[in-house]
Formats: sequence, structure tokens, C-alpha cells
Amino acid sequence: MSDFFRLQKRIDELSAIGARDGAVTRLGLTADEQAARDLVASWCAARGAQVRRDAAGNLFARFPGEREGDPVVLVGSHVDSVPEGGRFDGALGVICAVEAIESLLDVGTRFQRPVEVVAWADEEGARFGIGLFGSAAAFDRLPARAAERADRSGVSVAAALRALGEQGDPALARRDPREIAAYLELHIEQGPKLAEANRPLGVVSDIVGIVHGRVTVKGRADHAGATVMTARADAFLGAAEMALALETAARSRENTVGTVGEVGVRPGAKNVVPGECVFTIDVRAPEQSRIDAVMADFRDAVKRVSEARGLETSVDLFNAIPPTPLDATMRDLFARAAASVGVEAPVLPSGAGHDAQNPALAGVPTGMLFIRSTGGSHTPRESAATVDAALASDALAFALRRLAG
Ligand code: GLV
Ligand code: MN
Ligand code: MN
Repeated sequence: MSDFFRLQKRIDELSAIGARDGAVTRLGLTADEQAARDLVASWCAARGAQVRRDAAGNLFARFPGEREGDPVVLVGSHVDSVPEGGRFDGALGVICAVEAIESLLDVGTRFQRPVEVVAWADEEGARFGIGLFGSAAAFDRLPARAAERADRSGVSVAAALRALGEQGDPALARRDPREIAAYLELHIEQGPKLAEANRPLGVVSDIVGIVHGRVTVKGRADHAGATVMTARADAFLGAAEMALALETAARSRENTVGTVGEVGVRPGAKNVVPGECVFTIDVRAPEQSRIDAVMADFRDAVKRVSEARGLETSVDLFNAIPPTPLDATMRDLFARAAASVGVEAPVLPSGAGHDAQNPALAGVPTGMLFIRSTGGSHTPRESAATVDAALASDALAFALRRLAG
């Protein structure tokens, strides 16, 4: 049985790192993310795990098995957050993974196979734009020239890794997927379905496909008073029209979403017509054809708006993760695991991206269990009850016993 108070204490301890005004800001490949990893490492080392970090900043804590040469069971999530995010996205999955293992060790369980807890680095991609960064590095799915991508202050991924004591080449983190028997991830649902169904746990069937990109619109900076409205090439207004076109393209398709979450204008002064506007796009759907259709509509809009307004626009796509079905055997295992703690867990898809996509796409049998959450996600309002986390840890312990016990 998991230990409610140990869980609660760890949720509080981990969410204090990067906390400000009730929100958590713990961006990937920063000292705060590293401090969170170090804390998780200290919990695991105290229970006899061998702890290491790889070249992408991923933390692995290995609990040995009787058959040390066997493929490992990998279990975890991420400890980075979006800017001004919540306490549970990612973090709760790592805490529950450690709790499940400790609850097994507490009753003298000896693993046959080795079991590793993983805290993937920079899942959110909030700083460099590459979502699922650490797991992509481990499963050889990094986008081209990932090490060269820079944050807003011009610091590259390679430099950020070096500042954390790594070599600077995330591709060195690659692991052979055949050495991994299974990957299991617990995560808050981040949506309302489990709460509405009054169920604490849900089994994930599949994860949406995602396209991430950055659009640069170039116009002409000019005086906000002396330039008549008909003589402007306002980069922001062009970008605004393109963003609305993205909304229309997504709204016209079922279960499809499109978001412009970052916008910046240059030079950025109230009395200057914006000469340049850079904005991000995030497009998601459960089917690739719908993502492709939205992107085709968006590109048409970019061309039309740019021509009409005398702008020059480039679209830089830097990440594309296909829709990812999860393994049927792991789904079944998690359904039985939930039943073992008295929960009839609904099966549901994930509209959020997850590190689980990378092992799944690399052929590793992969499963995810959702924990009921409220208040949405990627905001300090996100919330999950510790009793639900305890149930999830017990269900995970059941699954780990089946796979490695
Ligand atoms: C991760 O939280 C994502 O879905 O962007
Ligand atoms: Mn997450
Ligand atoms: Mn997230």
C-alpha cells in the first residue's frame, strides 16, 4: 500500500521548486528543473537505486532486478513545467512512480527485472520549442539540429546542457528500445472527463498528434502617428489575421485544436507600427489527416494575408509528433491494475502530448494511466487529490508486480 503522508510530503516538496505566487515555473534544462531531478534522485538513492543522468538531462534511477541483464521496466514522467504552470502536470507521475516502487520495497518485494524511474527532461518544450525533448532524445526522435535551437535570450540547447554539466549533444542520450521491456506513465488527466464520470483513474487509449511551429511575419516599422492607415505594412495585424484563420481551420474539424500561445512584436513600442511579428502555432488532432488539412488551410491563409498586406512570412515547423496509439496489452494491464484497487477505469484518449509517445513510436510496449484532475492544466488552478494519487500508485504497483515482480 502506498503511504499517503509520504506522497503528500513529496508533492509539497517538489512543488516548492520554482514556486512563485501559487504558480510553478520550472522550465526545461534550467537549474530549477535540475533541482527537481536532484530531489527525486535523493528519494530513489535512499532506497538503493543507482542514479544517473544522460546527455539530454534525463534522470534514471535504477532499482536492480535478480536478472540484471533483462530488459528494464521504465516508469516515470517529467518534472519541468510551463511558465506559471501547476503543481501536478508531470511531477505527480514521477512522485507516484517512486511511491509505487517504495510501497513494493516496503513489503520486501524483490524485482526479477530491473525497474527504472525516469524523469524526462524538458517535456513541455516551453524554453526551446521542442516538446518531449528528453524522451525524443532517448528514442532517437529529436527534430533536426535540435542542439542548435536557442531560447529567447539566445542560449542554445547545447549551451543549456553544458551549463548542467552535460556534453552538449542530446543525441548521445539515445537508448536501444530493445533494452526496455515496457514503459508506464501516470499523469493527471488535465481535462474534465474523469471528474465528470466520478472516477479517480482512467486508462489512456491513444495520444493526439501535434505540430509545433513558429511563424515570422515581416512588415515595415514606421511612425504610429505620421503613417496613414493605407500606407502601412503592419506585421502584427497580418499575424492576427493568420491566427484567426488558424482558429477557423481548427474549429471546422472535429476534435481538432489550434493555438497561438506566444506572440512577440518588434521593435515593440506603443508608437511604432510593428515591423516584425513572431508567433507560435500548436495544432493537434487524433488523426494526421486533420492536422494536415488544418496546416494546408493555414498556409493558404498565410499566403493570402501576406500578399494582401505586403508582408513576407515564413513558417518554420520544428516538431511533428504523429497520433500515437498505446499498447493493447498495457491498456489491459492498467485496466486490471485499476480494478485491483476497486476502480472501473474508463478508457479515454489524451489531448495533451506525453513522453509516452516516444517509446510507443519506437516500438516499446507503452501504457498510461490518468489520475482525475480538476481546474484544467498548464495553470496554477490544476489540482489532483492525494487520495487519487495514492490509488494510482497502488494500481501502478500492481502493474509493476506483474511486469517485474
Ligand atoms: C504538454 O503538456 C503538451 O501537451 O503540450
Ligand atoms: Mn505533462
Ligand atoms: Mn504539460
